[in-house]
Amino acid sequence: MTETDDADWLPAEVDRATPSVARIYDYLLGGAHNLAADRAVAERLCAIQPQVVQVAQRNRAFLRRAVRFMLEAGVRQFLDLGSGIPTVGNVHEVAQDLDPEARVVYVDYELVAVTHSRLLLADNPHAGVVHADVIRPEHVLGSEPVRSLLDLSRPVGLLAVALGHYLPPAADVPAVFATYRDALAPGSYLALTHLTNDFAVLADPRVAETMRSTQDHIHPRTRAEVLALFDGFTLVDPGLTTSANWRPDRLSPAVDPQDDGLYAGVGVLA
Ligand SMILES: C[S@@+](CC[C@H](N)C(=O)[O-])C[C@H]1O[C@@H](n2cnc3c(N)ncnc32)[C@H](O)[C@@H]1O
Repeated sequence: MTETDDADWLPAEVDRATPSVARIYDYLLGGAHNLAADRAVAERLCAIQPQVVQVAQRNRAFLRRAVRFMLEAGVRQFLDLGSGIPTVGNVHEVAQDLDPEARVVYVDYELVAVTHSRLLLADNPHAGVVHADVIRPEHVLGSEPVRSLLDLSRPVGLLAVALGHYLPPAADVPAVFATYRDALAPGSYLALTHLTNDFAVLADPRVAETMRSTQDHIHPRTRAEVLALFDGFTLVDPGLTTSANWRPDRLSPAVDPQDDGLYAGVGVLA
């Protein structure tokens, strides 16, 4: 389902001409918070690679499985970096389904994502939203929602799902991840997915070229570069794999990594 660009859900400050990955991803997942410019990019991506929709769905399914895994390990608070526009199976829904007291802080720099997350969470005392660029960890970690909702002396589930490839090399991405890691208590987890050219499905250079017309350029990384983001964490089984192949279940079966496209893993901090 889509809506017109004069929809009343759109914050006035949004630049309608510049597509954003938050809204492109929303469109790919069947959401209603996207604009004509976003849909045009999504359609171009689908023309280059029709499996883009499945890649997005499998990424979202990984997110839910990883959150359930961390809940089963006893984690009751989550920091979701690059959380996106709320859609089915948000982290707070999965977490609070198991424990209504579970805490979740969402972080995004895209206005539609932040505005709709705030609306959705208005009556939820255990979840909050930070409008920030994740490459400024000090802004995120020092923000009011993080300070009031999360107890950083206890384990946290840090999520960076389909996020890292939007962070440019100039931002020193391993150092950014290390800053978050250093703020976390032992027993915390990091779950991430990350785009790569190591697998066929998204390796077509036209994918990155198409995203250059948006506000979110992509920077695919190699296996070694993605592993570096887990520095200090110990990967849990099955190690660094792809989204559908990380602990697949009946609803999300394993697929050939060449069709999966995103590295995926979960690590625990000793
Ligand atoms: C593809 S979506 C992923 C959403 C969600 N994590 C998921 O996997 O379902 C990527 C999100 O990261 C956000 N994002 C990208 N770079 C960011 C940055 N530097 N700071 C904050 N958010 C960022 C985008 O706005 C978008 O909402």
